[in-house]
Amino acid sequence: MAQGVRGTRDFYPDDMRVRNWLFERFHSAARAHGFEEYDAPVLESEELYTRKAGEEIVGQLYNFEDKGGRRVALRPEMTPSLARMVMARAGALALPIKWYSIPQCWRYERTQRGRGREHYQWNVDIWGMDGVAADAELLSVLVHFFESVGLGSGDLVIRISSRKVLEEVLGSLGIEGETFAATCVIVDKMDKLPADVVEAQLADLGLGADAISRIRAVLGLTDLDALSSALGEGSAAVAELGALFALCDAYGISDWLAFDASVVRGLAYYTGPVFEAHDRAGALRAICGGGRYDKLIGTLGGKDLPATGFGFGDMVVMELLAEKGLLPDLASGVEDVVFGMGAELRGAAMQVAGRLRSGGRSVDLVLEDKRMKWVFKHAERCGAARLVMVMPDEWAEGKVRIKDLGTGEESAVPIEDL
Ligand code: HAM
Repeated sequence: MAQGVRGTRDFYPDDMRVRNWLFERFHSAARAHGFEEYDAPVLESEELYTRKAGEEIVGQLYNFEDKGGRRVALRPEMTPSLARMVMARAGALALPIKWYSIPQCWRYERTQRGRGREHYQWNVDIWGMDGVAADAELLSVLVHFFESVGLGSGDLVIRISSRKVLEEVLGSLGIEGETFAATCVIVDKMDKLPADVVEAQLADLGLGADAISRIRAVLGLTDLDALSSALGEGSAAVAELGALFALCDAYGISDWLAFDASVVRGLAYYTGPVFEAHDRAGALRAICGGGRYDKLIGTLGGKDLPATGFGFGDMVVMELLAEKGLLPDLASGVEDVVFGMGAELRGAAMQVAGRLRSGGRSVDLVLEDKRMKWVFKHAERCGAARLVMVMPDEWAEGKVRIKDLGTGEESAVPIEDL
């Protein structure tokens, strides 16, 4: 009973301080770019996720029947909830919509470094804009965040491609629609699964050996000129990626980015630019991932609205920050420890604590009779700036003794000056 469910985490205050620090950086990178926060329930209708393309995420669903006989699921990702919210107010929301959130998401995954069965996932999305300016904006949010936690372009790279690359390759072979999405989901696993397994799955979708070798050749490209030669004059994919990289250049974030045609992403709904950030050493799973998904609302029965966004988990980035020695050593946030000498001065100490709190200070009042030695140690453990002592002689004169724990200086201060 002392153990939580496998793949879930407890956050003790030490962990919670670091988590809040991380989330605050998520919030401020989003706010710095004019995004507004939203939220949705962790429990959704199962049908919001039951897509047909064979995605891993659907097989990992925490789903069950509730007491009213409804099929429900814990959200594995935020994007379908966001689509549902946008759809419910279609027409009433001013465009573009620029929203962000930090939901907890649940996936029944094989637990490993950087992957658990629950994680918090920072989501940043833009709806109602179909140009690459929106995608560039998201990349700027990412870089802003990375810089704010002390990571540099030498630590990680954001690899970018577009679903249009595969769309053009497959389109020339007559593969579109549902089969296209299903093909992307399989192709995403090309470097994770044995070649014969992937080839058998692609063959099931009707792709022959020639098609597969053409896909492999194109996905190996990491240079836009080579992509242009492979896809030919007038390729929409090449034009889109060229425009995106040009905007990112203007933003001054090119050092962080690289074109890599092997980025496809494993979710069915992407339609345009897609990206993933990885540590340069290649030791960890993807730090974050996202892309354009212009047709998601259509699959949910609504009218399509262009959209692009990313999801950024809290686990891999924490691994990377720890490895680079970038995790801060955070204090509890207590500013003053107030201590009343003896039971007779407990009421006076409460008065003093109340006064300080009204003035906006964070105060920890010592609630029991303790020796001075314990009180000093306690104040140090809290990382407090001051120890405020209510002593009989000073109190009789309407004063308290304050010890500055940084300098060690002590002085008697009138209570009205607190
Ligand atoms: P995703 O690639 O499935 O995309 O997840 C995005 C990020 O969430 C991953 O890169 C990783 O940081 C984190 N993540 C996912 N699963 C786990 C896990 N089991 N444990 C720890 N971290 C995890 C999506 O979910 C898309 N809905 C993102 C998106 C938003 N696309 C457009 N807007």
